[in-house]
Amino acid sequence: MSKKYYITTPLYYVNSKPHIGHSYTQVACDTLARFLRQNGRDVFFMTGTDEHGEKIEKATIAAGLKEGEEQKFVDGIVPVFKDLWSKLDIKYDYFIRTTDEYHIKTVRAVLDKLYKDGKIYKKDYKGWFCTPCETFWTQTQSPDGICPDCKRPLEKLDESNYFLKTSEHQKWLIEYIDKNPGFIKPDFRKNEVLGFLKNEELMDLCVTRPKARMNWGIEVPFDKEYVTYVWFDALINYISGIGYPHDMKKFAEAWPADVHVIGKDILRHHAVYWTIMLHSLGLELPKTIFAHGWWVMKGEKMSKSKGNVVDPVDIVSRFGVDPYRYFLLREVQFGMDGTFSEDAIISRYNSDLANDIGNLLSRTLTMAEKYFAGEVPDISKIKIDSPAAEEIKTRAVQTAHAMESLIPNFEFAGALAKIWEVIGLANKFIENSKPWTLAKEKKEGELALVIYTLLEALRIVAIEIYPFMPETSEKMLTQLSVKGKADNLFSNAKIWGKLTSGIKVSKSGPLFPRIDIKA
Ligand code: MSP
Repeated sequence: MSKKYYITTPLYYVNSKPHIGHSYTQVACDTLARFLRQNGRDVFFMTGTDEHGEKIEKATIAAGLKEGEEQKFVDGIVPVFKDLWSKLDIKYDYFIRTTDEYHIKTVRAVLDKLYKDGKIYKKDYKGWFCTPCETFWTQTQSPDGICPDCKRPLEKLDESNYFLKTSEHQKWLIEYIDKNPGFIKPDFRKNEVLGFLKNEELMDLCVTRPKARMNWGIEVPFDKEYVTYVWFDALINYISGIGYPHDMKKFAEAWPADVHVIGKDILRHHAVYWTIMLHSLGLELPKTIFAHGWWVMKGEKMSKSKGNVVDPVDIVSRFGVDPYRYFLLREVQFGMDGTFSEDAIISRYNSDLANDIGNLLSRTLTMAEKYFAGEVPDISKIKIDSPAAEEIKTRAVQTAHAMESLIPNFEFAGALAKIWEVIGLANKFIENSKPWTLAKEKKEGELALVIYTLLEALRIVAIEIYPFMPETSEKMLTQLSVKGKADNLFSNAKIWGKLTSGIKVSKSGPLFPRIDIKA
């Protein structure tokens, strides 16, 4: 049995509905998952929701419900997330909720094990605490009493809690990250984590909250007065969702995760706390933690608390699902921050989608209909030397080969740029070879070669864009009459000449009707 390729996303807080930032991770993970499946890999793609803790407790009250009605509140929001993922064509294999019975059982089992192994202990804690971030800070980390993350004032706290021995693993973690360069990506984020670990002393992680202060959480198995700290609870999803510790056979089919995709703001929770939790349990670490950047609006992070969020449902209803997916992964290199604006999405839409790919398909099919009665021309007997056609052929196939290393490396924008180079070459080929003149001059052989080259390039491009824009890919393959079950297998993008002559292509409406900016 081969191991599954296991991809995870963060579990989103359900204190309000999802925004672009959340959908960004989903689209990236879905693209990776689709690409791997297209390549015959057995993928397990898991996502879900983070439903405990103070944020949810507060949101419940803010929604007009009473304390104790948190479950009712979260049950009402989870479908909003699921609906959006389905709208965005996110094909995950499993959706986990931290209020799921089996997840709660796993969290308790983990706490129990670590407590029995002497890795969790109780102590009085006096120090700073950031309530919105649910994070403890030392005097050194916050000399001015301001939260280093959210910049809000901290509270002084004096209470007993349970702590996971974390600091004793600091040296081990530094060595592990140094020895495994692919563990934290991109590289500059790895250096940030190393910088932090080398310069600051780790505190033991507080894994509980007294019920007297906050009680919407998983009860600690060895002390009824406490619930589990929401981050400790949520991080465990990555193993509870695949059966740990109750179904170790299932667990072994997926663990270690191939990649945890997260945003840069939660890298420390993953690269430091989660890693030490796993190490304390004697489990292997995920192969890679990839931290992407933020979408910002007018220089500020888009976030629920700042109230500057863009609703993906609104964007999708105006521009379509595939343009939205395309924009998110094309506009910024994955890992860097990106600026979101409607102008930027419209400009990508009109130039890359309507003009480049949309026009190429439409012009090519129109010419196939006009000059060859809609049939793929037969070029088997044509012996014409066309360097431009050769270049398209080489580049289309080379792009497929390049994608095999680009996509698993999260270089989505780079892969799309390469595909668009092929599209650009094909459009230029039309301009330079002037099929309309070839037709007038009755140069049938040359004309057939041009049209065949364009159709075949489009077939390959359709397969290559599938992970990014599944609906568009399908539409293109249908118009090219190559839509069978196996047609979008990635291996078919590495073979030039699979379009059979005589097959009838069928043009339908434009892929991406132009957006009139003034309107
Ligand atoms: N519940 C925790 C994660 C627990 S994982 C075991 C959490 N939830 S969140 O809903 O606040 O954020 C989820 C993800 O959305 C994070 O990866 C965060 O980086 C991402 N984003 C939130 N706003 C974002 C942008 N404006 N841009 C890009 N992603 C951002 O943290």
